[in-house]
Amino acid sequence: MNAPLSSSTVSSENERLSWTQSLKGYWLKQAYRHKNAEKLMYVMFVSGFLLWDQLSLPWTIERWLLLAHMVIGVSLFLWTVGMFWSAHRRLLMRSKKSFLRITGRMTEALLVLCVSSGVYLFFYGVTGNTLSVFIQDVHFYSSLVLTPLVFRHALRWSVLNLKSSRLVSFFANRRGDNT
Ligand code: HEM
Ligand code: HEM
Repeated sequence: MNAPLSSSTVSSENERLSWTQSLKGYWLKQAYRHKNAEKLMYVMFVSGFLLWDQLSLPWTIERWLLLAHMVIGVSLFLWTVGMFWSAHRRLLMRSKKSFLRITGRMTEALLVLCVSSGVYLFFYGVTGNTLSVFIQDVHFYSSLVLTPLVFRHALRWSVLNLKSSRLVSFFANRRGDNT
């Protein structure tokens, strides 16, 4: 026969449940917080693009950009985009929007390429051998496709979409008030 549960066992079980539920709730919320992930992606692209050899920026500027690009890349970017991605990708299972599923999958593949090549460059740099030049090319070209793809994927809600920006709706509302 089962022994009756003591009240302290029940309350610790309830506590454990509410803790896992709030963690789950927090996790699910991340799936809809795309703005920070998207903004960081653009920050990484702009700071990385300015490092491109063809632009030949003076080293005094380039060294700060490189430092910022690398430090943000291995900290804030990995944390924010990693968390958003791991929660957001579950939408793949349920979504009926085939365009978003396809562009989402492509984004995922390019993110893996771009981030893994970035982490390689962080640790080993471009030493001039064939492998490091190849990895540099992978990083450059994957980021070149990734950035417009993410913009297109998130188009309706993109931080760069002026129609959905707060400033535009603020002025539109004011105009509405005055008429
Ligand atoms: C974990 C994240 C990342 C790390 C650690 C990282 C690291 C680096 C490093 C060390 C370089 C300099 C390579 C060189 O010496 O030429 C670089 C260049 C660059 N990065 Fe990243 N990166 C990361 C993510 C990204 C992302 C997400 C993008 C864009 C969406 C991006 C775009 C670029 C571009 C365009 C360059 C210039 C490539 C070139 O000169 O050929 N990076 N990155
Ligand atoms: C930083 C990268 C990403 C950003 C900023 C982003 C942003 C967004 C946004 C704003 C939407 C809503 C679009 C709308 O309803 O018009 C969306 C939907 C969607 N995304 Fe992403 N996404 C990213 C990466 C990914 C990845 C890696 C995947 C797949 C592994 C993915 C899969 C999906 C799916 C399946 C939907 C449709 C959800 C539905 O049916 O409502 N996304 N994404």
